[in-house]
Amino acid sequence: MKALVYEGPGLKAWKEVADPVIEDDADAVVQVDTTTICGSDLHILKGDVPETTPGTILGHEAVGTVLAVGTGVKTLVPGDRVLVSCISSCGRCRFCRESRYGQCLGGGGWILGHLIDGTQAEMVRVPFADTSTYRVPDGARDEQVLMLADILPTAYEVGVLNGRVRPGDVVAVVGAGPVGLSAILGAKLFSPGHVVAIDLADARLEAAKGFGADILVNNGREDPVAVVRGMTDDLGADVVIEAVGVPETFELCTELVRPGGHVANIGVHGRAATLHLESLWIRDVTITTGLVDTFSTPTLLRLLASGHIDAGRFASHHFELNQMLDAYDTFARAGETGALKVVISR
Ligand SMILES: NC(=O)c1ccc[n+]([C@@H]2O[C@H](COP(=O)([O-])OP(=O)(O)OC[C@H]3O[C@@H](n4cnc5c(N)ncnc54)[C@H](O)[C@@H]3O)[C@@H](O)[C@H]2O)c1
Ligand SMILES: [Zn+2]
Ligand SMILES: [Zn+2]
Repeated sequence: MKALVYEGPGLKAWKEVADPVIEDDADAVVQVDTTTICGSDLHILKGDVPETTPGTILGHEAVGTVLAVGTGVKTLVPGDRVLVSCISSCGRCRFCRESRYGQCLGGGGWILGHLIDGTQAEMVRVPFADTSTYRVPDGARDEQVLMLADILPTAYEVGVLNGRVRPGDVVAVVGAGPVGLSAILGAKLFSPGHVVAIDLADARLEAAKGFGADILVNNGREDPVAVVRGMTDDLGADVVIEAVGVPETFELCTELVRPGGHVANIGVHGRAATLHLESLWIRDVTITTGLVDTFSTPTLLRLLASGHIDAGRFASHHFELNQMLDAYDTFARAGETGALKVVISR
């Protein structure tokens, strides 16, 4: 089959590799019908993720059709259409039994396209298939369901639920990339009073408006703290969601939050950020961190099927699998191309 192979920092190739096979009786082999690219794939390609070794097929998001299952797989048969999620779950360890699949101790967690071969290929081997895939609801389009493989559960669990968004809240989202936009979509489910989107790129702010943000702040030109305080009796936002992953934006979030409010960090940080306890200690602020678990995927699938979330809106560009390198180029130059999620289909 053909696959997108990481060949060391700065190097990737779309090339012929061996077909995946069932290695463990809990495995399935899935034909990839639709896949996409994540910012984390770009991090791996830069060499920022040393545990991903050259030779690994990238990708941790897909919708596909089951081709074969191991003898231990109970709930899937060949022909089933499934969502392959960014997080795999052994289903048995302490953390999986607490729905903390991201922290799985039994060989799951973020493994696809990270520690084992991933989904940017014609086929993928999915370990723990019963507990790591989700049946695609009838009538749902692949490119909508695909958005539930990573960005939507990430933003919903680590941003919206950890941030405890409640009706009437002022919610500020710092960073309006695919994850920040997903946080806006998820926050809207709770009828917030206002959603403030903060980003340096006007194109991303325009997208945020389409996803339901009603106040847009370009923090390259305007002071977001002044805007948010101006609309909250000088208090700050009830919930602030960090969706960038740099020290400046985390520190901005702690300035934007009201006393008693929540800062939910989603961003993956590569550098140390300063926690200003000298001003925060007296403000009853809660700060949360997290890796996505995907425990919310069944809920999000129901919301998608009932039309409460418009996931198709993320699909900004379409490619065929053999145009994988063009898809990478378009996604990597999101500033110029306006890419949100590139949809790559067979
Ligand atoms: N915690 C998790 O489980 C998890 C899962 C997936 C992704 N992530 C992380 O979420 C973050 C967002 O992901 P994404 O795919 O949307 O990223 P992205 O790079 O596509 O988007 C980031 C956005 O932040 C904006 N930005 C950059 N610097 C800024 C600044 N100083 N002020 C305001 N805006 C700024 C950019 O213009 C861009 O629109 C990343 O750090 C990613 O690694 C975390
Ligand atoms: Zn991802
Ligand atoms: Zn586990």
